[in-house]
Amino acid sequence: MSRIALVTGGSRGIGAAISKTLQDKGYTVAATYAGNDDAAVKFTEETGIKTFKWNVADYEASKAGIEKVEAELGPIEVVVANAGITRDAPFHKMTPDQWNEVIATNLTGVFNTIHPVWPGMRERKFGRIVVISSINGQKGQFAQVNYAATKAGDLGIVKSLAQEGARAGITANAVCPGYIATDMVMAVPEKVRESIIAQIPAGRLGEPEEIARAVAFLVSDDAGFINGSTISANGAQFVV
Ligand code: CAA
Repeated sequence: MSRIALVTGGSRGIGAAISKTLQDKGYTVAATYAGNDDAAVKFTEETGIKTFKWNVADYEASKAGIEKVEAELGPIEVVVANAGITRDAPFHKMTPDQWNEVIATNLTGVFNTIHPVWPGMRERKFGRIVVISSINGQKGQFAQVNYAATKAGDLGIVKSLAQEGARAGITANAVCPGYIATDMVMAVPEKVRESIIAQIPAGRLGEPEEIARAVAFLVSDDAGFINGSTISANGAQFVV
């Protein structure tokens, strides 16, 4: 029987590539989305991957959504916490709302996604968790005090979960994408984006599939002893 994988923010951008790659590898995928119904319907039509709508920032909605996924598909064995937003502004212009929205979605959202599936993984003695962090959680980024804080926080989450879950057969790892050709990066003003690409030794943006393949490895049986790790995929823009 195929494993059930939950991918938050799984119908667009990097998340969509992860959903499709896991499906290609034989997983039954549930992709969540927060708002864009049209994109989700189109994604399901094109891929056959079921989509579920909830806001990861809301604990009760996440818990209820996960119960629905498990009732329809079965116990979730793989979780990819990918959903994330940006609200970029230089710190002197950043509003408390911009700070709070990003913390709620990118950091609390990771807690809300993993916490409801954790007891089942512990009982079944198996689980694979991957959190999609960012190069900007590793190096910081102008105008991203909020986002960088959450992405650095993701690394603390996986390092701690790895220690708690290891005896129960659960691994938790992070992938730190660099600048990838998605709507999020395309929203950066063109001039700024060009100056960023100039700083990438690979000379190009990454492709979403290049992140998805790293995730597929981390959730595979082959990666059972890789726990609490961070894989950077950034074209050598930032070497840790
Ligand atoms: N380093 C140093 N200075 C910078 C800078 C940088 N990286 N980026 C902008 N600046 C400077 C500008 O040159 C400008 O300086 P002057 O005032 O002297 O001209 C100033 O900062 C910008 O000030 P503004 O008042 O014009 O800024 P703004 O309020 O219009 O905000 C911005 C502009 C939001 C910062 C915009 O430049 C931007 O979006 N930058 C990109 C930020 C970024 O990289 N975000 C990543 C998004 S992708 C992602 O997050 C995915 C992932 O994980 C990698």
